[in-house]
Amino acid sequence: MSQLNLKSIKNQAEKEIKKTENLTELEGIFKKYLGKTGVITQVLRSLEKLSKEKKAKIGKEANELKKFLKLLFEQKTQAFKEKVKKETEESEWLDVTLPGKKPVFGHLHPLTLARRRMEEIFQSMGFSIVEGPEMETEWYNFDALNIPKNHPARDIWDTFYLKTELSRSENEGEDEATASSPTELSRSENEGEDEATASSPTELPKEAKVKMKTKFSSPGGLLLRTHTSPMQVRYMEKNQPPLRIIVPGNVFRHEATDYRHEFQLFQVEGLMVDREISVPSFKAIIGEFFRRFFKKEVEFRLKPDFFPFTEPSFDISMTCLVCAGKGCSACKNTGWMEVAGAGMVHPNVFKNSGLNPKEWRGWAFGFGLDRLAMMKYKINDIRLLRSGDLRFLHQF
Ligand code: PHE
Repeated sequence: MSQLNLKSIKNQAEKEIKKTENLTELEGIFKKYLGKTGVITQVLRSLEKLSKEKKAKIGKEANELKKFLKLLFEQKTQAFKEKVKKETEESEWLDVTLPGKKPVFGHLHPLTLARRRMEEIFQSMGFSIVEGPEMETEWYNFDALNIPKNHPARDIWDTFYLKTELSRSENEGEDEATASSPTELSRSENEGEDEATASSPTELPKEAKVKMKTKFSSPGGLLLRTHTSPMQVRYMEKNQPPLRIIVPGNVFRHEATDYRHEFQLFQVEGLMVDREISVPSFKAIIGEFFRRFFKKEVEFRLKPDFFPFTEPSFDISMTCLVCAGKGCSACKNTGWMEVAGAGMVHPNVFKNSGLNPKEWRGWAFGFGLDRLAMMKYKINDIRLLRSGDLRFLHQF
């Protein structure tokens, strides 16, 4: 073993240590030179065969090299450890003062907002809220409302007829239909609230809404109700006037869709029956409703119309708020939006409900809530309401 040899071992080892990139590599190199069978260990072992002189000289140098390399390894190991520590500190560092990620909250649909507002307003005027079935009999949807079979008036409502017919006895006995009296209802009003808070109006108390238990034992087939008017008869059959109700609910029409028409709509029926009821009282209540719903004075007009279950009949149109009456796609460039059908309850409807038309008088309306929502929120296409398009919905 010559000095030259030790020198080249030293050079080689230094080079290799320098090149290592991590602790594992470094440990490999350590073993290679200083392990049990490592290069230096072997050099030291081979000394035995040498002369005393050489042994002393080379032995000393080899031991120095061993010490030197050990130190080098220790330094490098330390450097690696520090590097790892620094890296984990950096990657695992947490800034507890950073604001958290906000979860995305859902919010109420414009139709729900409009419906709740409408319910609050009518409740405050003493109206009860009643709900009825979306699946109806031909009797309640048409016949009881003075629309006989084969009468052309039936064509006004394009109807989805159902193939199945419930057995007559199926719902027997479930015929209680009463609404809690208006006096029991919450009169909580959100008048004066700004738009922001109006988006989360106070929930109506449970007892304020009454679901009519329904029996489908009347004559005729079944259909998806085309309007909420059947509830006029269903309610009057079970409740003695004087009465004031509104009936919010979905209705279905087999018709083509466009900016102003959908095949599923949300209607709010209104019915007021008493001994002395007239068109002026109707107009006053509608005017009050508009004022509070739109939070401003809006122009509206009653135009003569025809419905078999009211006489006289009219439709309610209001200035189109999408275009401020200038004319747009929503109002078919007329500046007016038809928002409801209405009229004085027809004597035959009273008769079909078991009431004496000579004793009672009443008015009824059927608002299209979709259209009211269009006016309130300036929506120019009714189809957006049920599109499920988040770009639209996030605006409310
Ligand atoms: N039910 C009618 C419709 O859907 C509207 C209406 C309701 C008309 C009440 C008069 C009275 O077209």
